[in-house]
Amino acid sequence: MRKIEFFDTSLRDGEQTPGVIFSIAEKVTIAKQLEKWGISVIEAGFPAASPDSFEAVKQISKALKETAVTALARCVITDIDKAVEAVREAQHPQIHVFIATSPIHMKYKLKISPDEVLKTIDKCVRHAHEQVEVVEFSPEDATRTEPEFLLKAVQTAVDAGATYINIPDTVGYTTLEEYGKIFKMLIDNIKADREIIFSPHCHDDLGMAVANSLAAIKAGAGRVEGTVNGIGERAGNAAIEEIAVALHIRKDYYQAKSPLVLAETMATAELISQFSGIAIPKNKAVVGANAFAHESGIHQDGVLKNAETYEIISPELVGIKHNSLPLGKLSGRHAFTEKLTELNISYDAKELPNLFERFKRLADKKKEITDADIHALFTGETVKNLAGFILNNVQIDGHKALVELKNQDAEIYVSQGEGSGSVDAIFQAIDKVFNHQLKLISYSVDAVTNGIDAQATTVVSVENLATGTIFNAKGVDYDVLKGSAIAYMNANVLVQKENSQGKVEQISAHDGI
Ligand code: KIV
Ligand code: ZN
Repeated sequence: MRKIEFFDTSLRDGEQTPGVIFSIAEKVTIAKQLEKWGISVIEAGFPAASPDSFEAVKQISKALKETAVTALARCVITDIDKAVEAVREAQHPQIHVFIATSPIHMKYKLKISPDEVLKTIDKCVRHAHEQVEVVEFSPEDATRTEPEFLLKAVQTAVDAGATYINIPDTVGYTTLEEYGKIFKMLIDNIKADREIIFSPHCHDDLGMAVANSLAAIKAGAGRVEGTVNGIGERAGNAAIEEIAVALHIRKDYYQAKSPLVLAETMATAELISQFSGIAIPKNKAVVGANAFAHESGIHQDGVLKNAETYEIISPELVGIKHNSLPLGKLSGRHAFTEKLTELNISYDAKELPNLFERFKRLADKKKEITDADIHALFTGETVKNLAGFILNNVQIDGHKALVELKNQDAEIYVSQGEGSGSVDAIFQAIDKVFNHQLKLISYSVDAVTNGIDAQATTVVSVENLATGTIFNAKGVDYDVLKGSAIAYMNANVLVQKENSQGKVEQISAHDGI
């Protein structure tokens, strides 16, 4: 059985989802969870894009022990040098260099000839390889590239030192047979004095990203790229958890396995959902809330007799646990720490009294504390502390609100607002503190768990009218109004950060050289 390497780009391509911005602390937390999940290599960011992206890659490089860390660079020497610098402290550093090779990208975006593209590949891959042993090369828009030129581009990269060749279906255009043929053609024709590993990187514009990735694996790819929950540009990337579970369930067909600890799948999916502010669709394969629900009587009857009648994946396989240690208001510190151990949650021992106190406060309000509540307790705290702003207090009186915010220098801001309803009044009050030009694009509340006493995640999407950038921000709290205030405060902090740094030039990985 071949072992397929799993390359996760949730922190790079995933962060290119409109509105999604992970803070550096969130990125490090996600990276550690990806390592626990068994991901082989994490694309931690695009260091040339912004100082924050550089810093995130640096911190992730220091934090990970087993999982390799790579950084993206355009075929530009300064990009590559930034990427190299950012992964320098990783235990297993890699560099990912890309340039477009399709006629439309070369002509209209890069405005250079195919020969110049080949020369650039040679120069840049060589430069990267001189500094970091493991280099991946991607011919962007590979699936719309003429096969003869694709072969030339890939051979040039291999001759210059690349060991991994990624074949991006940048615009989600390919089909299963066509993509498989590209891999076969490259595997059969590329000449090298060492093993070259090929990988798919699929976008989901036609809803075929996962299927196309699996077709590439079937055709001989040894690595696969994707994101958790399929987040990413436009319709997103291939969902890594779906590929991993497909390989597991259909090992008879694929004869290949993933390195993932599948029992960590649900925790990983929930973490990404919380931090990205993008809810997991209820009907999503593998991790959706309905993936294991059986509605029709015939199905229920079958499942009760034998779960395998209608269930090809067991909930336990992906880490949906029966709550073996239910917690409630009478649970003590010991039961609480046991639960943290059971959930594999790492925390600083100094933080324990504070965490326990927050747990007790929640237990006073909520009859049964579920595993999701415990996860939310942690997520909520990370979310609350964004850039040091804390919501000290919020009070509602009809359509009037009073909010009290505290910044990292312990300065208190008290503000009042009046609106058409409680949430509007809170937002008006927060607007007065920050005084930004912004437009609320969407506001949503979703319960963390079932039940009337559930904690809620609030997500707001705002547009910074000064720059046009869209930000998603979240708040998690037992009290929906407090959660809404936290989310809106966090959105304002993101806008403030952008405004104070000047318009952060968010170079997209698709901007060319
Ligand atoms: O989709 C794409 O082409 C990419 C490349 C940068 C690898 O994300
Ligand atoms: Zn991509």
